[in-house]
Amino acid sequence: MKNILVTGGCGFIGANFIRYMLEESNFSGRIINMDKLTYAGNPDNLAGIEAAYPDRYVFVHADICDSDAVFKVFREYSIDAVCHFAAETHVDRSILGPQDFIQTNVMGTFILLEAARNHHNQLELFHHVSTDEVYGTLGMEGFFTETTPYQPSSPYSASKAASDHLVRAYAITYGLPITLSNCSNNYGPYQFPEKLIPLMVMNALEGKPLPVYGVGKNVRDWLYVRDHCSAVWAIMSRGKRGETYNIGGRCEKANIEVVEMICDLLDRIRPDAGNACRRDLVTFVKDRPGHDLRYAIDCSKLEKELGWRPEESFETGIKKTIEWYLDNPDWVERVRSGAYMEWIERQYG
Ligand code: NAD
Ligand code: DAU
Repeated sequence: MKNILVTGGCGFIGANFIRYMLEESNFSGRIINMDKLTYAGNPDNLAGIEAAYPDRYVFVHADICDSDAVFKVFREYSIDAVCHFAAETHVDRSILGPQDFIQTNVMGTFILLEAARNHHNQLELFHHVSTDEVYGTLGMEGFFTETTPYQPSSPYSASKAASDHLVRAYAITYGLPITLSNCSNNYGPYQFPEKLIPLMVMNALEGKPLPVYGVGKNVRDWLYVRDHCSAVWAIMSRGKRGETYNIGGRCEKANIEVVEMICDLLDRIRPDAGNACRRDLVTFVKDRPGHDLRYAIDCSKLEKELGWRPEESFETGIKKTIEWYLDNPDWVERVRSGAYMEWIERQYG
C-alpha cells in the first residue's frame, strides 16, 4: 500500500490514526486525507503534520458524497487503499436529526465504494471502520462476536449497519478486497467534547453540572484511541481479505463509574480552588430514547489471528486523556467556541 485514502482524518479517531501511521507505524507510503470539515472535523487535530511530512501527507477538503471529487482523488493520487472513517457519529444528534447520518454514512459510503469499484484493478484494500452499536444492546451477560446478528437501535447505528452491509455486498458481488472492523467506545486526545468523557472533563473543570443519563447504569466497553488505531492497521496490513474483526478493550464500565473516576482524578491532579468535591456536580437527567443498556466486545478473533493487544488499561488511558486536556488549553478553548457551544446550549439549556 503506497497511497492510502483516509476519509474523516480531521475527526477524533481519523486524526489519531494519521498521527499513528506517520509517527509510529511501519507504513512508509503517503496518506491522502479527505475531510469535509463538519463541526466535528478540526484541522487543529493534525497541527504540525503537513510541515513534518510534506511528501507523505496531503489534505483534500471535500465531501465523500461529492462523486466527482471522490473519483478525482482516486485518479489523481493513485489510491491503492482506503481507510474509511468519515461519518456523522453522535447518537444524540442522530435522534434529533437523522438526515445527515443517512446522507454521509449511507450515501457517502456508497459513493466511495463506487469509486473503489471503478478503480478496481489498482485497489488493494477498502477498510471500513464501523461500530459495535450495529449489534444493538446486550443484557447483563454475554458478548458481541463477529457473528452476532445486527439489531441497531438508533438512526446512527442503523446508518452504520447499512454501510456495513453495502461494503460486504460489494465484496461478494464485485469481488472488492475489503476488511471491516466493529469497535467499542473510544476515548483519548482530540475527542470532540459532546461525547461522554471529554464533556465530563470540561464541565467538571468549569464546575458545571455533569449530566448522567437515566441512573448511570448503562455499560460501555472503553478502548484508548491509539489501541483502536493499532488494531485498524493490524487488520489492514495483516487481516484476511473479506473478513470482519471486532475491536474492544475488555473494559466494561457503567457510565456513573466512569464519571466518578474522572471526578476523583481531577480532584487529585487539579483540585478545585474552593476544595469542592466534583462528584457533587453529578446530575441525573432524562434518559436517551432507545438507550442501549450494555456493550461488550469479544475480540478474541483479532487477538488470536493477528496477535493484537491493547496497550492501555482504563486506569492508564483515562489519566493520559485527562492530562492531555489539561495540557492543551488552546485546543480546548478553540473547540469550545461556535458550533460546540450552540449544541450544548440546545441540549442542556
Ligand atoms: P468524529 O465525529 O470525531 O469525526 C468524523 C470526521 O468525519 C470529521 O472530521 C468530519 O469532518 C468528517 N466527515 C463527516 N461527514 C463527512 C463527509 N460527508 N465527507 C467527508 N468528511 C466527513 O468521528 P470519530 O469518533 O473519529 O469516528 C470515526 C469513525 O469511527 C466513524 O465511522 C465512527 O462510526 C467509527 N467509530 C467511532 C467510535 C467512537 O467511539 N468514537 C467507536 C467505534 C467506531
Ligand atoms: O460504541 C461505539 C460508539 O460509541 C460509536 O460508534 C459512536 O460514534 C460514539 O459516539 C459512541 O457512542 P455512545 O452513544 O456510546 O457515546 P457517548 O459518549 O455519546 O455516550 C457514552 C455513554 O454515556 C452512553 O451510555 C450515553 C451516556 N451519556 C452520554 C452523554 C454525552 C451520558 O450519560 N451523559 C452525556 O452527557
